[in-house]
Amino acid sequence: MKTLILAGGKGTRLWPLSRELMPKQFIKLFSESLFQKTVKRALYLSSPDEIYVITNKEYRFRVLDDLEEIGISIPEENIILEPEAKNTLPAICLGVKAAGEGKFAVLPSDHLIKADEEYLNAFRSAEKLSENYIVTFGITPTRPHTGYGYIKPGKELEGGFEVEQFKEKPSRELAEEYVSKGYLWNSGMFVFDSKVFVEELKELAPEFAKVLEEGEEAYKQIPEASFDYAILEKSGRVAVVPIKTFWSDLGNFDSIYEVMEKDERGNAIKSESCIPVDSENNLVITQRLTALIGLRDLIVIDTDDALLVARRGEAEKVREVYRLLAEKG
Ligand code: GDD
Ligand code: MG
Repeated sequence: MKTLILAGGKGTRLWPLSRELMPKQFIKLFSESLFQKTVKRALYLSSPDEIYVITNKEYRFRVLDDLEEIGISIPEENIILEPEAKNTLPAICLGVKAAGEGKFAVLPSDHLIKADEEYLNAFRSAEKLSENYIVTFGITPTRPHTGYGYIKPGKELEGGFEVEQFKEKPSRELAEEYVSKGYLWNSGMFVFDSKVFVEELKELAPEFAKVLEEGEEAYKQIPEASFDYAILEKSGRVAVVPIKTFWSDLGNFDSIYEVMEKDERGNAIKSESCIPVDSENNLVITQRLTALIGLRDLIVIDTDDALLVARRGEAEKVREVYRLLAEKG
């Protein structure tokens, strides 16, 4: 199976850690970046020469450096640079154009998932289902998050279900309804056979199919589109394989706090030089000598030129900061 790694997203909810030139997938949140973790996970499905990275030209060196650091080399021509970011559907089209026919796994480069036996079994089931379906992976929801795709499983298939309804980023009300009715979250990973993908693309979004023939020239003409809205919401040939493995899209600092290692008082600290005194359940990322006294449930993100201090549980509002900053110019 070939793997397309989508690594061109910008991501704005981890400000000030992530910036336009340093998006989430390349930040070293752990000892490795999420992109590096994704490449390692891809090796369970594909050999290095079957791995393709689709990214923006600004991130070319980040991709090359990250690959070198983990000692994995993929052919230079498998690193596909978009002239401009147009969301996931055009990126996937460029990837399929470069990689040719066959079975594909499409992986986002910026979430955390454990590649355990359950994960590998799910991909095996997906590979079988991909003869006839575009296959998604369904995560059991824990809350009515409005930033995800929701999947209603229908008829049972071998190793999965037909998808009866796919709804990308619903309103809060709908999300609540979906969670109570047992819908699943879309994990953001996909498996398909290029022949099924091309058939669906030609039927549902024909202007994008041109990218498969003409490549970059056609890419310049098409609008932005996400795979979720343009294909998954509309296609009648989508299947879902439920997956119980630990999964997090690390969308904000609250979810990062959840997955980080903590000291005995619940502080998640990424710093050589942070001294917590009578403080608990804080997230601190800093390079500077920093002391905390009597602080609880705070997020402190300290970078060279910006400082974020927030209450845990409200990290989603970083989007608001980002919007206000953009307004200021
Ligand atoms: N090459 C390239 N070009 N990659 C891109 C682009 C682009 O223009 N835009 C986004 N990506 C990459 C991102 O870096 C990420 O790895 C992946 O594609 C998904 O894009 P996101 O922008 O993070 O999508 P999302 O989080 O809003 O929604 C998707 O993921 C959710 C789970 O985290 C959807 O698939 C949802 O249905 C899903 O629930
Ligand atoms: Mg995402």
